[in-house]
Amino acid sequence: MATGRLVSKTRRIESLPLHLLKRGRIHLLPVYYLARLSRLGSELVSNQGSAEYQDLVYRNQPQGKLLIGKVFDRYLLSFPTARGCRSRLAATQETLEQLLATRNTSNTVILDLGCGYARGLIALNERINSRRNGQVSVYGMDLNDKAIETASARAKEKGLANMAFSSGDALNPGDYPVRSADIVVLNGLAQYLPRDERMLLYRNVHAVLNENGFLLTDYFCNWAKNPVQKWWKGMSEQFLGVRLDWLSKDEVEAMFSELPFRNCRTWYSHDRLCLMILAQK
Ligand SMILES: C[S@@+](CC[C@H](N)C(=O)[O-])C[C@H]1O[C@@H](n2cnc3c(N)ncnc32)[C@H](O)[C@@H]1O
Repeated sequence: MATGRLVSKTRRIESLPLHLLKRGRIHLLPVYYLARLSRLGSELVSNQGSAEYQDLVYRNQPQGKLLIGKVFDRYLLSFPTARGCRSRLAATQETLEQLLATRNTSNTVILDLGCGYARGLIALNERINSRRNGQVSVYGMDLNDKAIETASARAKEKGLANMAFSSGDALNPGDYPVRSADIVVLNGLAQYLPRDERMLLYRNVHAVLNENGFLLTDYFCNWAKNPVQKWWKGMSEQFLGVRLDWLSKDEVEAMFSELPFRNCRTWYSHDRLCLMILAQK
């Protein structure tokens, strides 16, 4: 089993109700229990940043206990953070499809670091496989064993023999399942890291890429615009520990200019909640 730390699992408070009681913030207890009634909210408070959370967001089907749980689930699923994740997934699939369409080499190796359940890659692979059978090899890696089991089972169920999933730490290149790749996908992971570790990760990705290969990644935009959203953002920072390094488009571009990539293109996903980055070696 691979070792390392789940960087997207940011919550450090053991028991949220106890924490709220100790701090005299009893008025927030109903919010906590309301969240627990919703399937997404429940995953959010117990396992923020997990592959399961991400998959529920992609599935986008309200689930929960009682009507109120389902209603709250719908609310969370339409939140900017959830919408941004779905638009990031769509932008990633679209870009991968474009990259694959322009490649005329015999085989393309795609490596997805922190792949989660690989929903997007599996769907894309299913779509392109009938056209490009055998020409793409997809490797997904995640530190969470459940993610690897689920992604493997889903790919197998769909008969996608060109996909392989393994357990490993994205911060440890020794864990990568391949020594070289044409495209590395890195979604929803790097932003959780402090800058020095993030830069190291990008450099490690650069090292594993073949000449002219691409890193396809994203940077989530600061989504809290109105007072309600700002309140929720404050709550998630305080209780779930989600303190991301929010950077503007210019700052992301400046960060990439310090890296050895030769081309870097950035653009917003369709709802402008996610900044997409395509960097070429
Ligand atoms: C927010 S989810 C994103 C999943 C997927 N990339 C997507 O966009 O749907 C973050 C994923 O990164 C994984 N992860 C967190 N820390 C990791 C690490 N150090 N190495 C590999 N995977 C990691 C988590 O298990 C989780 O599946």
